[in-house]
Amino acid sequence: MIIAIDGPAASGKGTLGKRLAAHYGYRHLDTGLIYRAVAKAMLDASAALTDEVRAAAIAQALDPGMFGDPALKSQAVGEAASVVSALPRVRDALLAFQRSFAAGPPGAVLDGRDIGTVICPDADVKIFVIAEPQVRARRRALEMLGRGEAADEAAVLADILKRDERDRNRAAAPLKRADDAHELDNSNLDIEGGVKAAIAIVERIRAAR
Ligand code: DC
Repeated sequence: MIIAIDGPAASGKGTLGKRLAAHYGYRHLDTGLIYRAVAKAMLDASAALTDEVRAAAIAQALDPGMFGDPALKSQAVGEAASVVSALPRVRDALLAFQRSFAAGPPGAVLDGRDIGTVICPDADVKIFVIAEPQVRARRRALEMLGRGEAADEAAVLADILKRDERDRNRAAAPLKRADDAHELDNSNLDIEGGVKAAIAIVERIRAAR
């Protein structure tokens, strides 16, 4: 079984994906980390983020071993990831890796922006996670404070809105709810509530088979 989770920045997709994967004993891929890894390599090399040939070469040679680098979580890297992920050649270079991850046994949960629309259009379950921007900004700011980083909630909100706008309006694989995705609004749910709601969606689909 493949579970595809998409949604805007800081909507809780990553946490939900991890928890669903643990619940079902599946593997989990936070695809945002892939774009963040490409972006960080571009920043480290002081390369222009719009240099598509260079970014695509980095994407092609990406080492999944670096996805655990805590530096990938910063706001600056997230913003840069939103820019490099709009480059079609970067997306093309990362497509096969994501599809082969999804196809491996015993099942997989992938979260991102285009999982249900482009990477795994035939996923068994598609969930589109949303939450009010202010709620997302508050959660992200708390997360940053928890890591010992400074966090200005208003600045985090502005960053989230800018990123959503860019991710939704790009030509290549924009952030979009797949027609057959189930919407999960977690504005008023805590993590446990969101996980429960997602499991209920998966179980409904399994029972209908
Ligand atoms: O989910 P995240 O914040 O870690 O993602 C960082 C950026 O990467 C996001 O702004 C857009 C891009 N991204 C993407 O284009 N496609 C994905 N499947 C995942 C992330």
